[in-house]
Amino acid sequence: MPTVSDQNLAAKEFVPMIQLENVSVRYRVPTERIGTFKEFAIRLIQRKVNFRYFWALDGINLTVKKGEVFGLIGNNGAGKSTTLKVISRVLGPTKGRVRVYGKIAPLLELGAGFHSELTGRENIYLNGALLGYGHEQMNRVFQNIVDFSELGPFIDAPIRTYSSGMYARLGFSVATAHQPEILILDEILSVGDEAFQAKCRDRMRDFRENGATILMVSHGMKTMEEMCDRVGWIDHGKLRMIGEPAEVVAAYRQENS
Ligand SMILES: Nc1ncnc2c1ncn2[C@@H]1O[C@H](COP(=O)(O)OP(=O)(O)OP(=O)(O)O)[C@@H](O)[C@H]1O
Ligand SMILES: [Mg+2]
Repeated sequence: MPTVSDQNLAAKEFVPMIQLENVSVRYRVPTERIGTFKEFAIRLIQRKVNFRYFWALDGINLTVKKGEVFGLIGNNGAGKSTTLKVISRVLGPTKGRVRVYGKIAPLLELGAGFHSELTGRENIYLNGALLGYGHEQMNRVFQNIVDFSELGPFIDAPIRTYSSGMYARLGFSVATAHQPEILILDEILSVGDEAFQAKCRDRMRDFRENGATILMVSHGMKTMEEMCDRVGWIDHGKLRMIGEPAEVVAAYRQENS
């Protein structure tokens, strides 16, 4: 199989970074409320838990190209976060195939990847390790992460004491401490305040100029139109439309107004 750099030489415009082939994800949802986790575990072993099966993604085909900013839009529960999870390998697809040609820095739903009892400082090292960086490598970028997040006075507090915006600041700062090949962002820009959003956009622009591929989910349609090269609309687990940001956003808006 050709490597990414071989493909790069052959056709600079058309290097796939993420490919989803007929990807479907089925969740299993318990149909009744079970009081405690212990009770749930016992009944699970006894096979006395009834489940409903639910297809959150249904036959998604999608190729994200190297160097593009690709946006996913869609209503609550449409399957956007689930798509990012299968790409980040947090979740395996029930059917189909996911291929990723590069190192991913995922920034999934708020708090995913953070440990609430640990401090900001500890979470920085923990997250760095999850992204594959050693202690030394993290030492080198630690101050930069703290500075970018502007969380200096709070860095030794457990992050359960952080506001959602502070979570987002820490998450973005860690995920982008090193230039990522593929950056995945789930609704992160909308949580930070305006000043922080502007900083995030600048950093994303830099990454992009250096060849990074960005896949982002947002309910901020203006942001999506401004930042993305292409947008995909997910509707009830299906990819409904894909194309020019303005066109896809307009179609989505028309149906949801
Ligand atoms: N762990 C889970 N177990 C069962 N069902 C789940 C699970 N995670 C998500 N779902 C269901 O899958 C569907 C898709 O969820 P997903 O989180 O991907 O939506 P989304 O498009 O990101 O929505 P939002 O805009 O609200 O973030 C929803 O109906 C949700 O209830
Ligand atoms: Mg979501």
